Amino acid sequence: MPSVSDHRSAARRRLPRFLFDYLEGGAGSERTLARNVRDLDRIEIRQRVLRDVSRIDLTTAWLGAPQAMPIGLGPVGLAGMYARRGEVQAARAAHAAGIPFCLSTVSVCGLKEVNASAGAAPWFQLYMVRDRGFMRDLIRSAQDLGCGALVFTVDMPAPGVRHRDGRSGLSGRFGPSRRLFQALGKPRWAADVGLLGKPHTLGNVAPVLKGGSGMEDFMGWLGANFDPSISWADLDWIRDNWSGPLIIKGILDVEDARRARELGSQGVVVSNHGGRQLDGAISTARRLPAIADAVRQDMLVLADSGVRSGADVFRMLALGADGVLLGRAWVYALAAAGGRGVSECLEMFERELRTTMALAGCTRLDAINPTSLENTYRTKDF
Ligand code: FNR
Repeated sequence: MPSVSDHRSAARRRLPRFLFDYLEGGAGSERTLARNVRDLDRIEIRQRVLRDVSRIDLTTAWLGAPQAMPIGLGPVGLAGMYARRGEVQAARAAHAAGIPFCLSTVSVCGLKEVNASAGAAPWFQLYMVRDRGFMRDLIRSAQDLGCGALVFTVDMPAPGVRHRDGRSGLSGRFGPSRRLFQALGKPRWAADVGLLGKPHTLGNVAPVLKGGSGMEDFMGWLGANFDPSISWADLDWIRDNWSGPLIIKGILDVEDARRARELGSQGVVVSNHGGRQLDGAISTARRLPAIADAVRQDMLVLADSGVRSGADVFRMLALGADGVLLGRAWVYALAAAGGRGVSECLEMFERELRTTMALAGCTRLDAINPTSLENTYRTKDF
């Protein structure tokens, strides 16, 4: 069964460079991206023995909904460019594994397509585009389809500066011809996605694209159309249009987590967007314990950024999260082998988490806590 790094290598071989780099890269000098992975990696798990681990239970519930394991597929824009109708394939794999799939606002497949083909309504991730009338309709269609949660991403008032995207041809001068040239060098991708995976438009936001597809200059389009005036006051506006569970994604500060709770959100995703936004920000692993202490009693606390194995999931749970969202991990798998790849990826996470729990002497998720870790992660140089 392939690991995340096996899928990553296969994705690199299969994808045109602009897509691999868009997935792989982060903002600025990619320091926060590196910290996310490094800080998780450095956390030592306590090995415990002779504790009867014959039965291990990974099940849990998020916001009242049962889950097979404490993992969800986080929102990733353009996922439909990584495999043919990629969001549909990933949503099916998540559904089969008994976990939620969160569809990005800037996905290739729109809400209706995913809902109709995946066997279950996805969660829906919201970016606020300037046209509020359009946003209202989009939120209401998520409501009408029965999406289990609205995940409002707040760490992107403006897209981070991602140098790789200029170098790779995703944005910048001669982008379209460079992308075409790269695609021609990857015939399997070109056939599967380039030809058979059409239309390559942003399914949810097509009505505000004014005839374009959103792919011509994706990052430019985000910069020009996302609403940077967004503020806490807008949560009321969202609440007026959405009556289901609301999760705020992109919280990295204790005060902001408290504010999200005061304003009535049911959950937060502790996240720095996988190091793609504020380069220099703290890693999720380091900030998670303080946020969990402050709000976990009253809210669902999810975490992402840097999770690459079931052992990392264990670490996040021990630091105080109720569960994790995967980002790059599931998209590497999607690019490597489509929906089958995502299923393999989830099986591997399950197996690794189960094994880590057994070797750490925990049979239930609620037995995983800070005492499951060596004290070293509390030291100053961690
Ligand atoms: C993202 N992420 C993201 N988040 C979001 O709320 N809406 C989105 O459309 C996207 N798009 C997106 C594209 C790509 C290519 C990546 C890698 C990430 C962020 C994502 O949900 C998650 O926070 C990070 O990916 C977590 O970090 P790791 O696990 O990828 O390191």
